[in-house]
Amino acid sequence: MNNPDHHAGQAVPVITIDGPSGSGKGTISQTLAEHLGWHHLDSGALYRLLAYAALQDSLDLNDEVALLALVGRLSESYQLPTRENPVIRLDGADVSDALRTERCADAASKTAALPAVRKALLAWQRHYRQPPGLVADGRDMGTVVFPDAELKLFLTARPGIRAERRYKQLKDKGMETDLVVLVKEVEARDARDSARKASPLKPAADALIIDNSDLNAADTLRQVLQAVHAIM
Ligand code: C5P
Repeated sequence: MNNPDHHAGQAVPVITIDGPSGSGKGTISQTLAEHLGWHHLDSGALYRLLAYAALQDSLDLNDEVALLALVGRLSESYQLPTRENPVIRLDGADVSDALRTERCADAASKTAALPAVRKALLAWQRHYRQPPGLVADGRDMGTVVFPDAELKLFLTARPGIRAERRYKQLKDKGMETDLVVLVKEVEARDARDSARKASPLKPAADALIIDNSDLNAADTLRQVLQAVHAIM
């Protein structure tokens, strides 16, 4: 994990897409990365994997020392998922679906509030800034992890709409949830992510904000591509 951010004196280009859960940033980032032929970093997956591994090891989710040791172990073996190889593994086991549960998301949002954990994840995330470019999605990609990104986007939508999208995503994966409970969970997670002192969820000052409450995925992608083509 010692790749420098800069190759041959030139910064590798980064596009950041931040936003709350259910804003569509995951799908849009993956599609954009494929369109450009760039790498795609889903930073939420790193936070989820850390939380999942911590739960598996019955760690106290506030135990920074144990969590940092875990980050060291996980970052050594983590492979960025791609469309051809979408599986996320932990000690050889496929944990891709296990990472998507609300239990895991909730634990991720708790460990993600610890400044030491966020600091430890900086190098892990920046490691993926490799040629020809990186599309990074998360909560603080444009504000903290890649402040010098070529383009910063912030996707958002009304909370009720985001909860409905999460509901559909989980249902499609065969995970039954209650929409009313999900709305509460999404709001609680938003509140914790936005209120935390360490890298709260917020648009970078120079981010382009896209509210896609009334846009479908194709229209959102069209707006994103317009912004990308304006700078490239
Ligand atoms: O994006 P996703 O829902 O997978 O993220 C799970 C949790 O990880 C978020 O609720 C947030 O607390 C945390 N996270 C973060 N910073 C990021 C990405 C995710 O704090 N860049």
